[in-house]
Amino acid sequence: MSSAQIASRAIKELDPEDVKVLHGLEKTITRFESIPLQILKKLTGLDEGKLVFRLGRLNALGFVIKSQFGYTLVSAGLDALALRFFVERGLISGMGRSIGMGKESDVYEVISDAGTRSVIKFYRIGRISFRATRAKRSYSKPETHHQWLQINIEAARKEQEGLERALAAAVTTPQFIARNRHAVLMSEVEGMMLHECRKGEIEKPKLLMKEILENARKAYVKAKMINGDLSEYNILFDGEKPWIIDWPQYVNLDHPNALEILARDVKNTTDYFQRKFGIETDLTKAVQYVKGEKTKI
Ligand SMILES: Nc1ncnc2c1ncn2[C@@H]1O[C@H](COP(=O)(O)OP(=O)(O)OP(=O)(O)O)[C@@H](O)[C@H]1O
Ligand SMILES: [Mg+2]
Repeated sequence: MSSAQIASRAIKELDPEDVKVLHGLEKTITRFESIPLQILKKLTGLDEGKLVFRLGRLNALGFVIKSQFGYTLVSAGLDALALRFFVERGLISGMGRSIGMGKESDVYEVISDAGTRSVIKFYRIGRISFRATRAKRSYSKPETHHQWLQINIEAARKEQEGLERALAAAVTTPQFIARNRHAVLMSEVEGMMLHECRKGEIEKPKLLMKEILENARKAYVKAKMINGDLSEYNILFDGEKPWIIDWPQYVNLDHPNALEILARDVKNTTDYFQRKFGIETDLTKAVQYVKGEKTKI
């Protein structure tokens, strides 16, 4: 079972005191890697006996780990807090199947109290190799568990910003619903990742490529941003139109490498259509189009 599945089952068993302890741990992640018992006593107001009992339970649930210096909140514990947030608001009433386990996240289908299906993305940066993420990000390697939690919260915050800005510019991207901690709730796209689509499933590849670049253009011209990881792995196709997903690495136009990043996004797109459908595109013209300097590709 993944950590989000463990968390979703276990949140039903959490007592208010367990939650109090989780909140106490969470409050200190910026200050300690191992949180001393004495600090937790102050933060929770619980006496030592109760606190040790609660920490023992949370440890057995896989939400905290114990060391000789104290206690560390791990990602399943943060998942539990985030899930509680969504559940309390009726945004999630059940977890469904896993629909994506990427390098940086776990994505699940969820259902709300009203019966609406949506998608939750839990950030998991640091879980796999750091080298893969370093290529995309500018921070130096964190040393501790709690630093990774903070990086994941930051990534989710950035994805929220990216989604909201892209949506305001009418980019076809999932509807942002809510974010809590390192988890983003958004509408579900009923489609396939472009790299998984067979040739026959794309009737009008040239039009599809144009629509992808048109979305990149809206992001650039209206939202003043560049996705920064655009490729057939971050585009879903619903049989009619393309959906651009995955925004945490977006950059603003004043980023020192903005043009390079934009050219890479455009090239990833045109290369895919060249490889798969033999469509030749002038990269310079395509970049000019996305920048709003030309009206056609
Ligand atoms: N809103 C959505 N609707 C439907 N499927 C989605 C949605 N968001 C994400 N997915 C699925 O989850 C997968 C992973 O999502 P995303 O690309 O955002 O995360 P990621 O961690 O960057 O993945 P990777 O590291 O593999 O690129 C997607 O490829 C897609 O299959
Ligand atoms: Mg992705």
